[in-house]
Amino acid sequence: MSMQAVLLAVKKLVHEHCGLVLEGIAEDRLYKALESGAAQTNCKNLQEYKRLIRSDKQAFEQLISQLTVNETYFFREPEQIQLLVDVLIPQVLAHKNDAGPVRILSAGCSSGEEPYSLVMALQNTYGERTEQLFHIDAGDLDLRILEKARQGIYSEFSFRGVEPHWRERYFQTSTNGYHLRQEVRKQVHFHPLNLLATDFPEHIKNYDIVFFRNVSIYFDTDTRRVIQHTFNELMNAQSILFLGSSEILGNDLGVFELAEQEGQYFFIKGDVYRPVNSQAFSWSQPVRTQADPVARSHELVRKERLLPAQSIEPSRFNRSLTDKQSVAQPPVEQARVPDLARIQQLMRFGEPQRALHLLDHLIASGHQHYSAYLLKSWILLNNQQFQETEHFLQLALSAEPWSIDGMLIKGLSCKWQNDLSGAQQWFKKVIYSCPECWPAHYYLADICRQQGQASAALKAYQTVMRILSDNPSASDCMLWIPLPLPVGDVVFLSKRHIEQLSNGMQTTRAGY
Ligand SMILES: C[S@@+](CC[C@H](N)C(=O)[O-])C[C@H]1O[C@@H](n2cnc3c(N)ncnc32)[C@H](O)[C@@H]1O
Repeated sequence: MSMQAVLLAVKKLVHEHCGLVLEGIAEDRLYKALESGAAQTNCKNLQEYKRLIRSDKQAFEQLISQLTVNETYFFREPEQIQLLVDVLIPQVLAHKNDAGPVRILSAGCSSGEEPYSLVMALQNTYGERTEQLFHIDAGDLDLRILEKARQGIYSEFSFRGVEPHWRERYFQTSTNGYHLRQEVRKQVHFHPLNLLATDFPEHIKNYDIVFFRNVSIYFDTDTRRVIQHTFNELMNAQSILFLGSSEILGNDLGVFELAEQEGQYFFIKGDVYRPVNSQAFSWSQPVRTQADPVARSHELVRKERLLPAQSIEPSRFNRSLTDKQSVAQPPVEQARVPDLARIQQLMRFGEPQRALHLLDHLIASGHQHYSAYLLKSWILLNNQQFQETEHFLQLALSAEPWSIDGMLIKGLSCKWQNDLSGAQQWFKKVIYSCPECWPAHYYLADICRQQGQASAALKAYQTVMRILSDNPSASDCMLWIPLPLPVGDVVFLSKRHIEQLSNGMQTTRAGY
């Protein structure tokens, strides 16, 4: 069995088990995990290791743990937590009217910063009554990270952007890190949780509030849909679902209703928590007919995963893709001109056709801004429609010749058409106008490496590392284009290439 075949088989296994998509840059992570897994388990080769993970649950779980991205920190997106505690919790308490504690789930909790932040914020408002008023569960697929969550010991890194008073009040400093106080730790019940499972333990149910933030980015649309149906089963008839703010549109799949309050977006089930003046504009309304997938069994929905979205869920938006008349005579809401931020979100969530449809709508409505051309050229480039890409890129660059996004797309267009020296020139031009644009350094490094220019490649990877290790949330300098470059992966790969290139250069020097 070839190496490619092993990779393909493991990707499939992992995707079916937990939904993680290991394409593109994540493929390198998979490769590294397979190599180290095989070495640790004394397998002769990757094929033997593949057989092992098929038969040995523990070995498989260890591999999964290598593949998850556990990036998290305390009080991430604090505006959401504030809205929850100040505005929504009082409504939930009023609605429940003493019928048991408010049940909260942090799904994909990683090392625990999210559920613990919720406890701290609740304690801040509800004091000693927190324990009696709230039941907080937290679950993750990765058993190793759950163990870390239970320990509650953190490094400086988990406190990015956290107001110092939280740390002073709830943590004890020790030589090995910041220890979360027992009064907070005891309030979170951690459980192993695979959101793609078909059966859930008896105690995982009846939630009033679910936090599912920064997890769906690792899934494709079909998996996200399956997981939403799962949540639908695990949540109470009146309940609230939070996702990361950049994930909202990619999860607006017609299962839950999108709501907005005080500028924060979330999903609701039932109508009790629907904000009075919600500004939410949903592309896909929840379908509440007999054919409603919500009413179907989870198992059936899983089976339908491979069907195209439209056949599962005739959302208003999907209909409009095929039904010309509904585009010509849109309902009042649909007639609003879509804004670019929403189109960007769709692109980030791997929904280029929906994004393209809206862009065409936007451009046809007279929106001549260069950003619309940029976004369109980016989608076309990803479809490998190089001539059309060039056309729209030209329109964008003639309006804004020094657009970082435009020049970077140009570089990638050259790269993907194998014009490596053209690509190099464009990436250098980007770096000239924006020296901190780490994606340009990264792409440049890759090309230099491919062309055997080891020292130039090394220098460019080192620049990437300098920018990102100083500040892991450094901007990629793109104003419009959601580049498919997760920082964790870029750091991981850059380190690896630096190591290999340095070793290679030492060997070459030694050879002289
Ligand atoms: C980036 S962290 C998000 C942590 C936290 N929710 C936050 O927003 O900071 C993503 C987590 O999702 C978990 N995860 C991935 N697939 C999962 C699945 N199928 N079921 C449960 N958790 C999953 C990963 O193990 C990882 O710890």
